[in-house]
Order: sequence, then structure tokens, then C-alpha cells
Amino acid sequence: MSETLERWGSKRAFILAVTGAAVGLGNIWRFPYVAGENGGAAFLLIYVAFVLLLGIPVMMAEILIGRAGRRGPMQALSKLAVDAGASRHWRWLGLFGAFTVFCILSFYSVVSGWSIEFLVASINGDFDGASAAEIGAGFEAFLANPGLLIFNHSLFLFMTMTVVAAGVAKGLERLNNLLMPLLYGLLLLLAGYATTTDGFGTALSWLFLPSFGDVTASVVLHAMGHAFFTLAVGACALMAYGAYMPDEQSLPKAAFAVAMLDISVALLAGIAIFSVVFAQGMDPADGPGLMFVTLPIAFSELPWGAFWLSVFFLLLLLATWTSAINLAEPMVATLQGLGWRRSVSTAVVALSVWLLGLLSAFSFSTLADVRPLFGRNVFELVSSIPPDIFLPLGGLLIAVFAAWVMPREQVVQALGVGESGYVLWRNIVRWVSIPLTFIVLLGGLL
Ligand code: PHE
Repeated sequence: MSETLERWGSKRAFILAVTGAAVGLGNIWRFPYVAGENGGAAFLLIYVAFVLLLGIPVMMAEILIGRAGRRGPMQALSKLAVDAGASRHWRWLGLFGAFTVFCILSFYSVVSGWSIEFLVASINGDFDGASAAEIGAGFEAFLANPGLLIFNHSLFLFMTMTVVAAGVAKGLERLNNLLMPLLYGLLLLLAGYATTTDGFGTALSWLFLPSFGDVTASVVLHAMGHAFFTLAVGACALMAYGAYMPDEQSLPKAAFAVAMLDISVALLAGIAIFSVVFAQGMDPADGPGLMFVTLPIAFSELPWGAFWLSVFFLLLLLATWTSAINLAEPMVATLQGLGWRRSVSTAVVALSVWLLGLLSAFSFSTLADVRPLFGRNVFELVSSIPPDIFLPLGGLLIAVFAAWVMPREQVVQALGVGESGYVLWRNIVRWVSIPLTFIVLLGGLL
């Protein structure tokens, strides 16, 4: 596989690539609505704790496997397992990761399609002068139109898969360089606006003053799932990127930098969105539409609102694009590892994801009441079970592999820190991350 010999151009490029994978719908769309449904501040606190205790150490485990293997996930796991004298069956973990991202990308693409629609609408000035109620009703009407959802889903998937077909390390680097600072700047601006609204104080206390009375096992499970989801950890997707990592880079620094950027994007988005929610008397538990309704309302009150709203949706779209590219990579790498050509692998992945995505697109209208499992429809299933269960489970196995199966020297080298750094990392993974993930998964499932 010649693609895996590609390298990111620099250390910075690697950090940007991982940040590009991490920062996406998870921070700006999913965090606010999941926090909204799970009580706010307590959820935030638990999720941040999970990022520190599980997310960062497991992210390091995942990337170091890719880096030591220098192959697609399945092949890397298989080779490293054999090297370590362990079972080749570890390679199925790569397949499990591919299945996880398959489910995730199917709804991710549909929701990213919403941003395309909203980008066009904001450029057209459709939100100008609209009241909060009208904006809310417009969103409902949009969801009830599967043709429109499918059109945007197709467009987004096409954008994603063309970059993937070309090989990720080339196109992505330049895009990320430009994108991340711009997105950050705009979120700062939005959060600045939020301070001027009536809802700002309520939003702050709702986000930062936890009341632990409402914390249930399910809240904890959601917070853990979200920590994995937002960091893009647990699906072997970052493993695929680790394969391109430059030799001399320190992994802990990179992982820490990415996690901090990722959390701060979510916080800025949360402050902006919840200030509007409370200023407009909306319900924080309004579900997946939360961001798509609050932000047009917020911007419509700002000078040059339509312009900023367009810029925002453009940036959101670009952020989701870089995440979706990362979501597609493990699937394509897996098929390629079976000896398929990159172009064919990409086409097969694109078609399968598109088909599964149709079920999500119809989940807001025709299939809204088709609830195959746990009383949830397809969109609700694929947007909750893979992030909340599959990612932590994948992350758990990844951590076990890196901290228990791989030989010491190999891990020390792939981590890019000295012996003492290695021992610290290994102890955290062995005695904190692995047991904690296990307990929360078990508690949440029971
Ligand atoms: N981290 C991405 C986001 O927050 C989603 C993602 C999950 C990407 C898993 C890759 C792997 O939007």
C-alpha cells in the first residue's frame, strides 16, 4: 500500500489533521443538544473529565498503533499482534472500527447536508426579518422534506469522497491550515455577541454550575460516548492518520493540544447557543434541531447578520468536511488492505454510506415511526448507539492492545516520549482508562 508511506508535511500539519478530524458536528451541533438533553453543567463536567482520563490517553494509544504499524488499521493490528506473539484476531478490531464509522458517517453526512441547505438559505437572506417562531417552523418543514435532505446528503458525501479518493494527506493539509483559525475566530465573535444577550447569565450558570442530583448512569454513559465521539477516538480513524505521522513528533503533546482545542470549540459554541436558547425562552432539550434554530435567530439580530450567518455555515461545513474525510478513511483503508484499488474502495464505501444515510434522511418524515430497536427510529439509533457504545468499546480494546499486548520498546518509540513518560501513560491507561470505560459501559448498558 503506497498511500501509507505518505507523511504529513510537518508536526503542525499532523496536529491540524487530527484537530480537523476532532472538531466537527460533535462540538458545534452534538455537544449543545446532548448536553441540553442531559442536564447541562454536570454533563459538561463529566465529559471534560472523561476527555482527560480516557480521551487523551486512548487517543495516544490509537495513534501510536497506527504509527508503529504504518498501515491501514486492520493490517497494522494484524502485523503488530503477530510481532507481539498475540492472536491475529486483533485485526477484527479494525473491522469493528470500520463498521462504527460506517454507521456514524451515514447520519453525519445527512446532518452536514443540513449545513449546506442553511448556507444557501443564509446567502439568500431567507432568515432576514424572520421571527424565532418562523425560523423554528421553517426547520420543521425542511426536515419533513426527504427529497431535499437526500439531495444535500448526496452532495456532502460526494464532496467528502472525492477528497478521500485523492488520498488524504495532500488536500487536507492546506484546507485545515486555513480553516481552524477562521472557525475559531468566528466562534469567538459569536460568544462575544452572546455576552450582550439576556440569556448569557442563565447560559453560564446552566453550563457551569452543576447539580449532581440529576446524574444517572445514562447521563454518564452519554458523557463518555461524547468524549470519544468529539475526539474522534475509538473507531481506528485516528489510527489511520497515525500511519502518516512524522517520526520525530511527540504524541502526548499533540494529543493534549488537540483535546484542548476541541473542548474550547465546544465551550464557545455552547455559550453562544445556550445564551440564545435562554434569551428566546427556548428549551435546551430541544434535540438535534437546537443549533439550526438558535443560530439563525442569534444572527438575525446582529448587524450584517445574514453575512455572518453565511460565513458561519460555510465554516461549519468545512469543519464537518474534514471530520467526514477522517470518518471515511478507515473504511477505505480496510478495503484497500484487501487488495482493492483506492478508487474502487472509495466508490463502494460512498455507495454503502449513501444508502444507509437514506434511512436517516427519511427518519424525519416517512420513517419517523419505524422504530426497529429500543423504540428509536434509524436516525436516533445511528446517532446514539455507535457514538455512545461502539466508540467506547472500540477505544477500550484499542487501549488494551496498546497497553497490554504491544511490547514496551515499540510503544516507547511510537509514543515519542522517554521511559518515564511511557510508564505514566501506561499506568493511566491500565489502571484508570480501561477500568473506567469498562465500568461506565457496563453501568450504562444495564
Ligand atoms: N470528532 C468528529 C466530530 O466531533 C466526529 C468523528 C467521530 C470523526 C469519530 C471521526 C471519528 O464531529
